[in-house]
Amino acid sequence: MRIAPLVERPDLAAQVAAWGFAEWGHLNPGQTLAQRVIRIQGKMNVDRVPVAFVALDEDDGIVGTASLIFDDLEGDPRNPWLASVYVPPEQRKKGIASALVRAVEDTARRLGYSRLYLFTSTAPDLYAGLGWRPLERRDYRGEHVQVMDRTL
Ligand SMILES: CC(C)(COP(=O)(O)OP(=O)(O)OC[C@H]1O[C@@H](n2cnc3c(N)ncnc32)[C@H](O)[C@@H]1OP(=O)(O)O)[C@@H](O)C(=O)NCCC(=O)NCCS
Repeated sequence: MRIAPLVERPDLAAQVAAWGFAEWGHLNPGQTLAQRVIRIQGKMNVDRVPVAFVALDEDDGIVGTASLIFDDLEGDPRNPWLASVYVPPEQRKKGIASALVRAVEDTARRLGYSRLYLFTSTAPDLYAGLGWRPLERRDYRGEHVQVMDRTL
């Protein structure tokens, strides 16, 4: 398994968008799948935020995704954010998300950032195990979320 920037595999943008739409579409009511594909295509960078990543298996099939973005939590001035970490059910518990998180951290560090943020309603323990620190809890668009940060 290896992690690559999505710009190396633009053919995978539709799959990344479909996963995100199914998992987090409710957080962006009114956003269509087509609009999500366009947003993902805007993350095809390597030397500036936003950057989308894909995890690829030995056959170069997609087995996960994560992104480095600005302004994930609307109205919050902190930046940048680790976002959209997703591994399909049949690929979980193999360390793929952990590798994606490390790739996003490494890229943020390389781009000159000394701190990275995330919010999660589903997996705070995953990030805590990777060295992330819990900050505040808050309600966001109908969910209870944990905000976390990591010094790079
Ligand atoms: C959460 C998710 C990304 C984890 O992906 P994964 O590839 O299975 O994660 P890893 O294999 O790297 O797991 C790393 C560690 O976290 C643990 N872990 C994984 N998912 C966890 C969860 N939801 N809650 C708590 N711990 C979790 C694993 O057991 C593993 O522990 P270990 O290191 O002691 O073995 C995946 O379940 C997923 O895509 N879920 C749906 C989308 C989602 O909730 N994304 C996170 C949004 S912030």
